[in-house]
Amino acid sequence: MKSAVPAVTMRCVTSALFLAVCVMFSPHAHASSKDDRKQGEVLFRERGCEHCHGVDGAGSDRGPNLSGVGRWLHQPEIAMQIRNGGKTMPAFGDTLTDQEVQQLVAFLAAKKKKGVPRPDLAKANGVSTRMMACR
Ligand code: HEC
Repeated sequence: MKSAVPAVTMRCVTSALFLAVCVMFSPHAHASSKDDRKQGEVLFRERGCEHCHGVDGAGSDRGPNLSGVGRWLHQPEIAMQIRNGGKTMPAFGDTLTDQEVQQLVAFLAAKKKKGVPRPDLAKANGVSTRMMACR
């Protein structure tokens, strides 16, 4: 009798469970509608994201380029960044509703421009001292 059998079975059960949990929590690819993305674009302009991230998220010296952000961040990561902010980015969790965050996420997740290198955020954070002086 091989005692390894139950261990292998356990591993299968564990990974199956893990998979099920992942599927449960993963954002649905079609959860965002065109309207959400449109609304997100408006919010991006009106809530001051553009002030740091530039027109249409093209980047400025106050915030990184977001035009390819959908290629390197998953939707929950984008939502987390918006809600909690970052080293120098302010948190928007208290000023935006869940729906507004979701609309911004829909807008940004669709940004998959090719040839845009992922910004070096360690460097982006280096602008924090100058940011304090911005209007
Ligand atoms: C005061 C300037 C500022 C404002 C306003 C701002 N951001 Fe940012 N954002 C940054 C900086 C700087 C970073 C780089 C990481 C850090 O320091 O937080 C960043 C990072 C991000 C990232 C992650 C980028 C990546 O590649 O990992 C996302 C997504 C983002 N911002 C979205 C938004 C949205 C949406 C808004 C508006 C609700 C917003 N930001 C407003 C400065 C800003």
